[in-house]
Amino acid sequence: MAKELEGRIALITGANRGIGLAVAKAFAAEGARCILAGRNLAALESTARALGNASVLPLDLDDPEAIRKATRSVAALDILVANAAVLGARVPLKDYPLEAWLHAFQTNVHANLLLLQGLDALLRKSDAGRVIVVTSGAARTARAGGGSYAVTKAALEMMAAVYAREVAGTPVRINMLNPGPTRTAMRAQVAPNEDPMTLKTPEDIAPLFVELASPACKRQAEWINADVWLKSVR
Ligand SMILES: NC(=O)c1ccc[n+]([C@@H]2O[C@H](COP(=O)([O-])OP(=O)(O)OC[C@H]3O[C@@H](n4cnc5c(N)ncnc54)[C@H](OP(=O)(O)O)[C@@H]3O)[C@@H](O)[C@H]2O)c1
Repeated sequence: MAKELEGRIALITGANRGIGLAVAKAFAAEGARCILAGRNLAALESTARALGNASVLPLDLDDPEAIRKATRSVAALDILVANAAVLGARVPLKDYPLEAWLHAFQTNVHANLLLLQGLDALLRKSDAGRVIVVTSGAARTARAGGGSYAVTKAALEMMAAVYAREVAGTPVRINMLNPGPTRTAMRAQVAPNEDPMTLKTPEDIAPLFVELASPACKRQAEWINADVWLKSVR
């Protein structure tokens, strides 16, 4: 049977661990050539060796010039997975440290703008450019203490919606994927008292990323809840 992502080139941010790592593995298993982007070069290189058809792209999302430089080094691209993010401080807005607020905006929003700017021409050149923006339920349900995480994810979603309008009439598709509670370091930070073994794994939801990255995917600007998807496939 033909592989879903045969011959596609995919850049995944935060591919060194958690959801990004599982997505890279699933993409590679479906025939994609993965560009593993992130800061932990040792982990990325070890994954690239294990996957075979993969390369490492040093990418610190907190460094705008480094992001521009990194995107300039990419020669061709079909799929961008904007996955990496920070949780930021979990304190009420009245006490929110501005530095932590600005940092979350840099990592979760501005960095993804720079990635889109740097990779837009390549995505449009692809016969099936695909962007998957990893969001969160926090973007749409206000909770006390949601802080910069909730606000940056809401901004990221609107950025994706605006970009969807701007690529109208091209083969580029951009969708927002909300993983829901998933067994990673970030989730452990959000809910330290939760038993991680009660949660789904990044591997459980990686096939949904494959579906959205596929040339066959025609969805556009949709908000996709991985838990709803998981129920439909199990
Ligand atoms: N897990 C959940 O329950 C859940 C629920 C809803 C949404 N999400 C979303 O899912 C995505 C993946 O999160 P995860 O759960 O897999 O968390 P994770 O295991 O904590 O991974 C976060 C990733 O982001 C990277 N990152 C953070 N700051 C970076 C920077 N400045 N430059 C480059 N990379 C940076 C980390 O790299 P380092 O190792 O270098 O720090 C790591 O690879 C995030 O967008 C998160 O908001 C997760």
